[in-house]
Amino acid sequence: PSAAVATGFPAGQTPLRTRLEEVRLAVEDGAAEVDVVINRTLVLEGRWEALYEEIRAFRQACGEKVHLKTILATGELGSLTNVYKASMVAMMAGSDFIKTSTGKETVNATFPVAIVMLRAIRDFFWRTGRKVGFKPAGGIRSARDALAWLSLVKEELGDAWLQPDLLRIGASGLLLDIERQIYHHVTGRYAAYHDLPMS
Ligand SMILES: *[C@@H]1O[C@H](CO)[C@@H](O)[C@H](O)[C@H]1NC(C)=O
Ligand SMILES: *[C@@H]1O[C@H](CO)[C@@H](O)[C@H](O)[C@H]1NC(C)=O
Repeated sequence: PSAAVATGFPAGQTPLRTRLEEVRLAVEDGAAEVDVVINRTLVLEGRWEALYEEIRAFRQACGEKVHLKTILATGELGSLTNVYKASMVAMMAGSDFIKTSTGKETVNATFPVAIVMLRAIRDFFWRTGRKVGFKPAGGIRSARDALAWLSLVKEELGDAWLQPDLLRIGASGLLLDIERQIYHHVTGRYAAYHDLPMS
């Protein structure tokens, strides 16, 4: 399946109509997933209904089958309370995943923010019975980092969330590091990067 990154990525600052059109085009092109970035101003101004309407419009543009990943850009939301509320609104509006960051903000995925998002996912599940996925992104580079994220999700949400439909770890350098760890496991030495197919 292909993933399309749509909607004025990474700033989310192109007009809503343009961003909706981008989503429709991505869906027409056969995208299986669409990433959208929320308008942070709506969060900072506490305009939760407007935020809901915006994400709802993306949900509708995606249709039923395409997965909607909503990027909260948590490094720029001002407070953990805002992170919690934005998470809830994104889930109520029909997001399949909530994602911490685009990786382009000055602050990437952090554990405090993640705990708030994971608790929002849990609260939402308790209230609605619907499981929403979590995707930390930005600054996650090593297999060790990835393990820390896995443990955190397991602690907060349990094993049910440890599957690709509900947990993704966004990290471009991560695959290479995992390959190095496997190489080390098999050969007893660390590979030079040129030993690996990905490099
Ligand atoms: C974001 O929301 C603010 C506040 O309503 C609005 O002024 C601005 O145009 C919105 N930005 C986009 C890109 O939709
Ligand atoms: C955030 O993550 C991106 C992508 O991994 C990285 O390029 C950037 O340097 C990170 N920024 C910070 C402040 O850690």
